[in-house]
Amino acid sequence: MALTQVYGIIGSPVGHTLSPIMHNTAFKELGLNCVYHAFDVRRENAERAIKGVLALGFGGLNVTIPLKELALHYVNPDAWSRRIGSINTIDSKGNGYNTDGVGAVRALKEAGVKVKDSSVLMFGAGGAAKSISAELLTEGARVLVANRTKSRAVILADRMVRENISCGCGDIEPLGLDEVNSVIGEAQVLINTTSVGMHGVAEGQTLVRAEQMHKDLVVFDIVYNPLETELLKEARKAGCMTIEGVKVLVYQGAASFKIWTGLDAPIPSMESAVRAALRG
Ligand code: ATR
Repeated sequence: MALTQVYGIIGSPVGHTLSPIMHNTAFKELGLNCVYHAFDVRRENAERAIKGVLALGFGGLNVTIPLKELALHYVNPDAWSRRIGSINTIDSKGNGYNTDGVGAVRALKEAGVKVKDSSVLMFGAGGAAKSISAELLTEGARVLVANRTKSRAVILADRMVRENISCGCGDIEPLGLDEVNSVIGEAQVLINTTSVGMHGVAEGQTLVRAEQMHKDLVVFDIVYNPLETELLKEARKAGCMTIEGVKVLVYQGAASFKIWTGLDAPIPSMESAVRAALRG
C-alpha cells in the first residue's frame, strides 16, 4: 500500500493555525492520500526541523511566524523569494517559495481594489511584509511601510530598491508607527501584516483606531483568527470597506498546494472549512 504523504506547517506559536484544516479538506476533496499537521518549531530548531522534514520525505512544508526569513537559509530559494528575502513554502526537494504576496494581491483584486497607482500603508516589516510589499510594488502601488522597529522598515525598503523591485523613485517609504497619523490620510489601502490582533498573541489589540481612518480607506488584515480582528472592527466603525485575513490564508494556501501537487486547489471548500472552524 502506498505511504500517506505528509505535509505540515512549522512556526511558533502554531497552535491556532487553520492551515491543517484547510489543506486536509483539499486533500480529502481531491481524494489524495495525504495529511497535513502543525509543528511548533522555535527559531533555534528551524534548521534541524527543515533538514529532518526533507530527510523524512515530506511532500511539502509551510513556514510561518517567526521563521519566514530564517528558513530561507536552509532551502534553495527560487529567484523571487531570494530577492524578497523570505519564504512561506518548501517543496519536497527543499526548494523555497513565497506565496504570501500573490495571495494578498489576489484578495485585494477580488475585492475590486485598484492596486496600480494606489498608496498602501502597510504595518509590519517581517517575512510576510517583504513578500506583500514586493508584490504590491510589482503591481505598481506605492508602499508606506510602518513598523514598530523603524530600522527594520528601512532595511525592507532598501532591499526592495537594491533588488530592483522598487524603481527607487520614492515608491516605498519606511516609517515608524509614530508617523502613521501623518500619512494615513493619503492612503487608499491599509494592510496589517503584523501579529497584532491575533488570537493567543495579541487579540483585541490594534495599531490604529476608527478616528484615525477615513471612509474611503480599504482595510485588510492578514490576521485571520479571529475572523473579525480589532482592526477590522475599528474599520467598520469608520465606514471603511474591509477584507478578512481568511482570503489571504486561502489564496496563499492554494498557491502552495499547486506548487506541491501540481493541482488546482479546491478554493471554495478550503475557505468554507476555515470559516466553519473560526465560527466554532
Ligand atoms: P512574519 O515573518 O510572519 O512577518 P515576523 O518576521 O516575526 O513575522 O514579523 C512580525 C512583524 O510584526 C514585525 O514587523 C513586528 O515588528 P518589529 O519588527 O518591531 O518586531 C510586528 N509586531 C509584532 N508584535 C507587534 C506589536 N505588539 N506591536 C507592533 N508590531 C508588532
